[in-house]
Amino acid sequence: MEKRKIIIFDTTLRDGEQSPGASLKDNEKLVIAHQLARLGVDVIEAGFPIASDGDFEAVKLVAQNVKGPIICGLARTNEADVDRCWEAVKHAARPRIHTFIATSKVHLEEKLKMTPAEVIKRTVNAVKRAKSYCADVEFSPEDATRTGQDYMCDVVRAAIEAGATTINIPDTVGYAEPQEFGDRIRYLFKKVPEARKVVVSVHCHNDLGNAVANSLAAIEAGATQIEGCINGIGERAGNAALEEIIMNLITRKDYYNVTLNIKTREIFKTSRLVSNLTGIEVQRNKAVVGMNAFAHEAGIHQHGILQNKRTYEIMKPEEVGWTGDNLVIGKHSGKHAVTALLEEEGFQLDQNLISQITARIKELADKEKSVEREDVIAIARDITHQLSEEEQFVKLEEFTVTTGSAMTPTASVKLRVYGDLKIAAGIGDGPIDAVSNAIWQMVDPSLKLVDYHLKAITGGTDALADVSIKLIDANQNTFMARAVDEDVIRASAKAIIKGINKALNYRERFQTQE
Ligand code: KIV
Ligand code: ZN
Repeated sequence: MEKRKIIIFDTTLRDGEQSPGASLKDNEKLVIAHQLARLGVDVIEAGFPIASDGDFEAVKLVAQNVKGPIICGLARTNEADVDRCWEAVKHAARPRIHTFIATSKVHLEEKLKMTPAEVIKRTVNAVKRAKSYCADVEFSPEDATRTGQDYMCDVVRAAIEAGATTINIPDTVGYAEPQEFGDRIRYLFKKVPEARKVVVSVHCHNDLGNAVANSLAAIEAGATQIEGCINGIGERAGNAALEEIIMNLITRKDYYNVTLNIKTREIFKTSRLVSNLTGIEVQRNKAVVGMNAFAHEAGIHQHGILQNKRTYEIMKPEEVGWTGDNLVIGKHSGKHAVTALLEEEGFQLDQNLISQITARIKELADKEKSVEREDVIAIARDITHQLSEEEQFVKLEEFTVTTGSAMTPTASVKLRVYGDLKIAAGIGDGPIDAVSNAIWQMVDPSLKLVDYHLKAITGGTDALADVSIKLIDANQNTFMARAVDEDVIRASAKAIIKGINKALNYRERFQTQE
């Protein structure tokens, strides 16, 4: 029997970017999109063009520059969304408009305040409008798994009649169980035979940890497009992890008997690139791409592996592009070693950035015995996320902190704010709190620090401190920032100031246009 081709639809840049804590600049989205093209995904959903000017520009940039995959944008089923989406994706050689509307009772009654018939009408109008621009139109009944099956089929039938070429069934809230989800796809093929003439896709969220299993169950039921994100990032608990689905289909080709365009050796690099640019870590024990995915700890396993790797290894590490951890970086390491390590981690950096990173590594190596892979990554992240000189409206000039077991921590901080030198003092529950309180006396009080996270990169009291923070402005826009330094207080101050600068830049860019 001829093998079915499974279309891999990547939504890392759209649903993935909706992950709490993730936010990507336009050029970072472009770098990821190029890597997704190298990985061989068939479709890249690059964003939601109507959501913001930034989203629109990013989708347009990807459409203009990334060759190979279909470039898709998301739109609700209203005219303005569809039109805006087309304006962004039309630059692609192979554009797609993906339009969606919720179909479950709770969404119709509580969110849309629409009747089932109105939703069908909106679906038909949106698909027809999208079709007037673009031959390739995808339609999704949002919250499909909490929608009555017959009504879901009616909406899908109407979308196909209106011209949709892909029908995507989303498990929006990650509610489905694998067998049940597979049965829903089978039911769809039975009740809507026209679905066999279009691509049937699925899009699973991971709220109950079933996203990958549900996607695989849908493939068994006849779906031929799978949507997901690299590293399983995405809204709430995330989307189906594409690398896991891909390696299931490849490792168990005896079972699934399908073909893919994917170049699996690009998986590891893609995973690390996404993690490094979004700042969302890959958990060590994550399937396929976790640091421990190919590590064998127990003696009995090590013995088996030494005799024959097949005893405990179902995939070869090199098959997913994992090259091992054998590069040692120290003060004598040159740019080549640093470039090699960072390329393995998915960074694509110019010589100027490599020189800055190498210089910071040498500085650290002079102080510490060894510089580990994680240190190098943290330094690279820090340097690549540096704001340009013009973007730094607020600069840290200096700070002093006094603290002790019998005194209230007190800080004095000197900042340059729009060129003016300002000094303030603050007290706090600890030295970082004191510095933070001093900073907030000199900057816009409508910005609020809502999240602070401190991580020691590698062991020891001399470890690099990696601080990530989140700020919100009065309009609930969020700004993430991160800074790395050997000094935990300086790392914290730098991260807070970087977040403030991001918020001020956003204001300059968008609010001055209003
Ligand atoms: O989860 C969801 O339902 C979505 C749709 C827009 C496809 O992301
Ligand atoms: Zn989703």
